[in-house]
Amino acid sequence: MKTVSLTIDGKKITANGSENLLWVALDNGIYIPNLCALRDNSETMSACRLCFVEVEGKEQPVTACTETITEGMIVNTRGERALRLARSAFELIMASHPVDCAHCAANGSCELQQIARHLRVKLKPRRFKRLLRELPVDDTNSLFIYDPNKCVLCGRCVWVCRERLGIGMLGFAHRGFRRVVTTFGDEPIGQHRCLECGDCVSVCPSGALVFKDNSKRKIESKVR
Ligand code: FES
Repeated sequence: MKTVSLTIDGKKITANGSENLLWVALDNGIYIPNLCALRDNSETMSACRLCFVEVEGKEQPVTACTETITEGMIVNTRGERALRLARSAFELIMASHPVDCAHCAANGSCELQQIARHLRVKLKPRRFKRLLRELPVDDTNSLFIYDPNKCVLCGRCVWVCRERLGIGMLGFAHRGFRRVVTTFGDEPIGQHRCLECGDCVSVCPSGALVFKDNSKRKIESKVR
């Protein structure tokens, strides 16, 4: 496989020419916020709109998760236009996300906290009106709890359950503000076939899916 040389934030990098810019950056210690990408999903949904970067020669910022690296590419992950787009996307996500970190099992490992720090924005945005959902928490699975109010609709759990494990217990339902990750028929998770592998919990970036025994929480990046 042909290797290519590129520059990200001034750092010279050599990588496999078919690789995706997001993973190349992350593998080389350059953080780009992301929620909806998974390493083994080659068809990213490009839904969260957090991974904007600026590429020399391109008029508009591009999403790193959909960009294949090319020879001589020069990338700026800290460009103001890209950061502005990412901040808007993040603030929109957080406008419907409850912020109660002190009582959340994901506190400290939550990717939303990491993204807020990186983008230098508050977890409770002021720019958009806060509109919280009040959906019931599902604790019917013996391994994990699902709180749809904390779900950011990244789709990682849906993808791993369906594509990686071939189960497909989780899926999206409804549209717009009512959009939610749920089971077929919106029935409690405990009523559905589940391998209880915990992969959905491990890829969840927020506190939406958490193990009942929190010591089982894996380091998410190892699974992705
Ligand atoms: S990670 Fe690129 S759009 Fe979500």
